[in-house]
Parts: sequence; C-alpha cells; structure tokens
Amino acid sequence: MKARFLTRIRLWSCAVLMATFSLTQAQDAITGDAAKGYDLFEANCTACHQVDGVLIGPEFRGVVQRVNEEAGLGREWLHAWIKDNKALRESGDAYANKIFAQYNNTEMLAFPSLSEQDIDDLLAYSQDPDGGKTAFEAAKAEAKAKADAEKAAAKQGGGGANSGVIAIGFVVIAVLLLWLLVRVNALVKATTLAELNPLQEKEATSFSEMFEKYKKVGGITIALFAFFALFNVYWGLMGIGVDKGYEPEQPIYFSHKIHADIQGIDCQYCHSSAKYGKVSGIPSTNTCMNCHKTIKEYKGDYFEEDLVASGKFADGDAVKAFYTGEIQKMYKAIGWNPETNKYDGPQKPIEWVRIHNMPDFVYFSHAQHVVAGEKAILKAIKEGTIPNAKELNIGGGDQTCFACHGRVDQMDEVKMANDFTMGWCIECHRTTEVDMDNEYNKEYYAELHEKLKKQYGDATKITVDAIGGLECAKCHY
Ligand code: HEC
Ligand code: HEC
Ligand code: HEC
Ligand code: HEC
Ligand code: HEC
Ligand code: HEC
Repeated sequence: MKARFLTRIRLWSCAVLMATFSLTQAQDAITGDAAKGYDLFEANCTACHQVDGVLIGPEFRGVVQRVNEEAGLGREWLHAWIKDNKALRESGDAYANKIFAQYNNTEMLAFPSLSEQDIDDLLAYSQDPDGGKTAFEAAKAEAKAKADAEKAAAKQGGGGANSGVIAIGFVVIAVLLLWLLVRVNALVKATTLAELNPLQEKEATSFSEMFEKYKKVGGITIALFAFFALFNVYWGLMGIGVDKGYEPEQPIYFSHKIHADIQGIDCQYCHSSAKYGKVSGIPSTNTCMNCHKTIKEYKGDYFEEDLVASGKFADGDAVKAFYTGEIQKMYKAIGWNPETNKYDGPQKPIEWVRIHNMPDFVYFSHAQHVVAGEKAILKAIKEGTIPNAKELNIGGGDQTCFACHGRVDQMDEVKMANDFTMGWCIECHRTTEVDMDNEYNKEYYAELHEKLKKQYGDATKITVDAIGGLECAKCHY
C-alpha cells in the first residue's frame, strides 16, 4: 500500500515537473524570424561561427537546445550572452565562464546594438538554419524581381521625354493626314463639278497645282515618319551595354583598397597576364595562398567606415572581424585547413562574378594597351586628354590600368568606372597620341610616320585613329 502511495507521489511530482518544464519551455519559446536571423548572422557572426562545425566559436546550429541540455539555460541567458558576454562572465555566471575557458579564453564580440527581436531572430535561425536561408533568399529574389519590375516601369517612365516627342510626332502626323483627307475630298468634289460643268475648267487645271502641293505634304509626312523611326533606333543603340557603376557582390569580400593600396601589392602581381595577352585574368587561389597560408586574420587598422555608418556593423572591430571571417571563408571554399596547414577538402576555384565583359564580336587586347600603349596612355593622363585625367595623375605604373578602370586601388569592391561602349573606345583613340618609339609601332608604322611627317611637318601628332584605331575590323571579328 505504502509503496503504491509512493509511486503515486512520484508520478504526480513527475507530472508537475513536466508541466513546469513545459511552462518554462513555453515561456522560453523563441518567436523570431529565421530569415532575418540568417541576414544578421551573415553580417555579424560568420567571422567566428559557422552553422555546422566549430570555427573560432562553437557550432551555431541547435545552440538553443545545446545550452539548454548542457546547463539548463534558455532564452534569457542567450540574450545576455549575445548582448555582452563579458559582463555575463564577470557577473560570475558559471556556464559563461566554462565555455570561455573551453574556447581558450577567446573573447566573443559584444553586440549591444542588437535588439531583443534581432536576437530572437538569430536564435530562430539557429533552430532552422536551412529554412532561414531558403526563406531569406526567396524574399530577396522576390524583392529583386519587384525592384526590377519597378526599374523597368521607371525606365519606361524615364523615357518619357522620348515617348513624349514621339506622341507629339504622331499627333502632328494625324493632323496632317486629316487635313489631307479634307482637301482630297474637296478636290474630288471640285473635279466632279468640273466634269459636269465646263465652266469650272479653271478648277480642273488647278488639279495639277494641287497635286504638286499635296506631294509636298506627303513628302513631309514620310520624312517625319523616317525621322522618328531613326530617332528610336539611335536611342535604343546608345543604351546597349552601358554598365558604368556595375558592382556585383562577390563570393569572398575581397578589398582592392586593402590589397593594392594599403598593402601596396602591384596590380600585375595578381593580374599577371595583362602584359602578355588578351585578358588580364583573375588570380587563381594559389596566388592568394602565397600570402594567406600565413596571413590568417585581419589585423590592420583600416576598416570601411561606411559599413558602420550604414548600421551593417556595430563598430570598426566588427568590420575587422568580418574581414577575418572572409579569409576563413576563403579557406573553407578552397578546402584549406588552417589548423593543419593542409588542403583536406576538395580544392575548388573561387567563382568570382565577372564585371567587365565585352560582347563576343569585340576584340580587345590588354597587352596592346598596357604594353604597346603604356607610354601613350601615361602621356594622355599627364596632358589631361582623357576624362578624369586629373584624379588619375598620381604617378606609378598602375595608372595605365586606372585610365580605363578608374581608381581600383581606392575601391573596396570593384565597380565599372567607365561606360565600356564603342563610343568610349573611339573617343580615346581619337584623342590619344601614339607612342611612335615603341618597338611595335616603329616596325609597323615607320613608313606611315615618315609620310605624315613629310606631309604635316615634324610636330604632327599621330593619334591612335591615324594608325587604324577607328577601323571596324581592328575591334570587330
Ligand atoms: C570574434 C569572434 C566571435 C563573433 C564575431 C561572434 N562570436 Fe559567438 N562565440 C565566440 C566564441 C569564441 C565563443 C565561445 C565562448 C568564448 O570563448 O567566449 C562564442 C560563443 C557563442 C555562444 C554560446 C555558444 C555555446 O555553445 O555555448 C553563442 C550563443 C554565440 N557565440 C552567439 C553569437 C552570435 C549570435 C554572434 C553574432 C551576432 C556571435 N556569436 C558572434 C566568438 C564569436
Ligand atoms: C591580391 C590580388 C589582387 C591585386 C593586387 C589586384 N587585384 Fe584586381 N582583382 C583581384 C580579384 C581576386 C578580383 C576578382 C574579385 C573582384 O572583382 O573584386 C579582381 C578584379 C579586378 C577587376 C574586375 C574584373 C572583372 O571581373 O571585370 C579589375 C578591373 C581589377 N581587378 C583591376 C585591378 C587593378 C587596376 C589593380 C591595381 C590597382 C588590381 N586589380 C590589383 C585580385 C587583385
Ligand atoms: C601579397 C600578399 C597577398 C596576396 C597575394 C593576397 N592577399 Fe589577401 N591580404 C593580404 C594582407 C597583408 C592582408 C591584410 C592583413 C592585415 O592587415 O592584417 C590581406 C587581407 C585579406 C582579406 C581581408 C580583408 C579583405 O580584403 O576583405 C581577405 C578576404 C583576403 N585578403 C583575401 C585574399 C584573396 C581572395 C586573395 C587572392 C585573390 C588574396 N587575399 C591575395 C595579403 C595578400
Ligand atoms: C584601354 C583600356 C584598358 C586598360 C588600360 C586596362 N584595361 Fe582591363 N579591361 C578593359 C576592357 C575593355 C576589359 C573587358 C575585356 C573583355 O571583356 O574582353 C577589361 C577587363 C579587365 C579584367 C577582367 C578580366 C579580363 O581580363 O577580361 C581585369 C582583371 C582587368 N581588366 C585588369 C586590368 C589591369 C590590372 C590593368 C593594368 C595593368 C588593365 N586592366 C588595363 C580595358 C582596359
Ligand atoms: C585610354 C585610352 C584608350 C581606350 C579607352 C581604348 N584604347 Fe585602344 N588604344 C589606345 C592606344 C594608346 C593604342 C595604341 C597602342 C599602340 O601604340 O599600338 C590603342 C590601340 C588599340 C588597337 C590597335 C589599333 C591598331 O591599329 O593597331 C585596338 C584594336 C584597340 N586599341 C581596341 C580598343 C578597344 C576595343 C577599346 C574599348 C573597349 C579601346 N581600344 C579603348 C588607347 C585606348
Ligand atoms: C576602337 C574599337 C572599335 C572600333 C574601331 C569599332 N568598334 Fe564597334 N564596337 C566596339 C565595342 C567595344 C562595342 C561593344 C559596345 C558595348 O557592348 O556597348 C562595339 C559595338 C558595335 C556594334 C553593336 C551596337 C552597339 O552599339 O553596341 C556595332 C553594330 C558596331 N560596333 C559596328 C562598328 C562599325 C561599323 C565600325 C567601323 C566603322 C566599328 N564598330 C568600329 C568597338 C569598336
């Protein structure tokens, strides 16, 4: 009997316990948006955490459950930790101090700027990383589709001046046609009258007069039609391939400012084929690893203040942690293990998004410009005959690249600095004086040079167009 009573009590207390447990669970339930959490995690945490596996800090997937299982702690503790883990440790919190020791006393950043909702979103993401990511990308794709649609609409609206002109054109044409119709009607009446009444002969002779007059009107109408048609074709063509400012997001956040300017690495150390070939090429990961086998974190002073000002990062340290995270991301992408200093994953190339890309029917050679044309282009910068020459005139061989690509050394993310249209190529060829002393030109254009000198005197400037820089076949296959 007594034993039975005891089991009963045990059962009851179990039930009560379970009830309170599920109550605390309910109280602790995290109602966040995993998609937003994904975005926050990518921006703030990937420098040290990854979803699966330990990076600098612990694995993020299932962190809520883990903390609960290991120490019976929940939402409140996680909030306190993420906001300011140092304060929590200093308050003597046992678990906080335990994990700190477990991770070799590596300090996690404090995130005082994250709101309660932000943290809930992050925690929701940790509970469903895959769903969060998918939802975020779906939302982003939707937003992009919407923005594209709006842009297309704006473009049509923006072409308002253009379509306005066309509309007016059509009205003018319509009025002319109407007038023509009325006059032809009158004419038909007049001729029939003339046939019936020989007295109206005078009207009939004026028929040929009128015909002359209407021929003019018809001519004007046709000319107007042709003008508007041509205008539209021209407008359409001018719009092709103008991508100035194009700045796609890259798989690894690689800063030219940090590498080319602050570290002073020569453009051609990485873009080494510019000298020899048609393309400059993007460096292989082997080139990166020449340095990054040993440079495992970012310890510089520089950081992009914009990224803090825009609210994407809490402060300079967070941006720097992000840079470090990008180096880690590169290791992961190419299968390098920084712990063992060995490639232990598949060695894959990084898939950079191409920014400059001429259509297939255009032939462009870097060597022609960077080697044969170097002196000519440097001179053009000095003499200010190409656009933006003033801001490019800073000395050094990299200037040749800047003439077309702008101050890449000052860009964190590369963007297109010029239009890269046919008009842009030709403009430079028209104004840039060829360097007649380089081996290539000496050999091929000696004769031409002599002829021009004789014709115009020694001081003649020979621009690229004079050596064929405007010939269609030089640039088109
Ligand atoms: C500078 C590196 C760094 C950054 C950035 C960072 N963490 Fe941490 N995090 C750590 C380290 C290291 C630990 C392990 C404890 C320690 O050493 O302090 C940790 C521990 C944690 C823990 C406890 C995990 C456990 O298993 O007990 C949570 C939760 C956490 N981080 C969340 C975040 C979130 C969310 C972000 C982004 C908002 C973030 N961390 C950004 C380094 C970082
Ligand atoms: C440490 C290696 C490195 C150095 C040094 C470097 N680059 Fe780059 N460059 C890259 C990588 C990697 C990319 C591809 C990622 C990107 O677009 O940011 C790139 C991309 C570019 C692009 C865009 C290519 C495209 O997709 O159309 C241009 C233009 C460029 N670099 C010019 C320069 C110039 C000019 C300099 C010298 C001031 C320079 N680079 C120095 C590594 C380097
Ligand atoms: C000649 C040496 C050298 C080469 C080659 C090099 N880096 Fe770096 N990289 C550095 C140095 C130095 C830093 C800054 C470290 C610091 O200031 O603590 C850096 C920083 C970085 C960073 C963090 C800052 C940022 O730009 O976001 C990333 C990411 C990075 N490198 C990626 C790459 C990639 C990708 C390549 C190959 C295309 C590459 N690096 C090639 C020397 C190099
Ligand atoms: C006369 C203008 C001009 C100059 C000077 C120039 N580029 Fe380019 N660059 C281009 C054009 C045009 C493209 C696009 C080529 C294509 O799509 O075929 C390009 C493309 C690139 C690319 C993308 C990859 C590729 O090769 O297509 C890189 C990287 C690049 N340039 C780097 C450089 C560097 C580094 C220098 C200086 C050594 C330089 N460029 C000088 C016009 C120029
Ligand atoms: C910054 C000025 C500049 C720009 C922009 C420029 N070029 Fe040139 N280009 C030159 C110079 C200078 C030469 C003469 C090189 C030499 O001495 O052989 C040249 C020569 C050439 C030649 C050889 C002409 C010949 O008769 O041998 C071709 C082809 C060419 N450019 C194509 C292009 C294309 C395509 C573009 C646009 C994508 C372009 N260039 C943009 C400066 C420029
Ligand atoms: C200096 C180099 C150069 C010369 C010379 C040149 N082109 Fe082009 N052309 C280009 C480039 C670069 C493009 C691609 C522009 C773009 O993508 O926006 C282009 C594009 C075109 C297009 C496509 C329409 C467009 O605007 O994109 C046609 C058609 C064309 N060229 C015809 C000609 C003809 C005809 C000649 C001779 C009278 C000629 N080109 C001479 C560089 C040149």
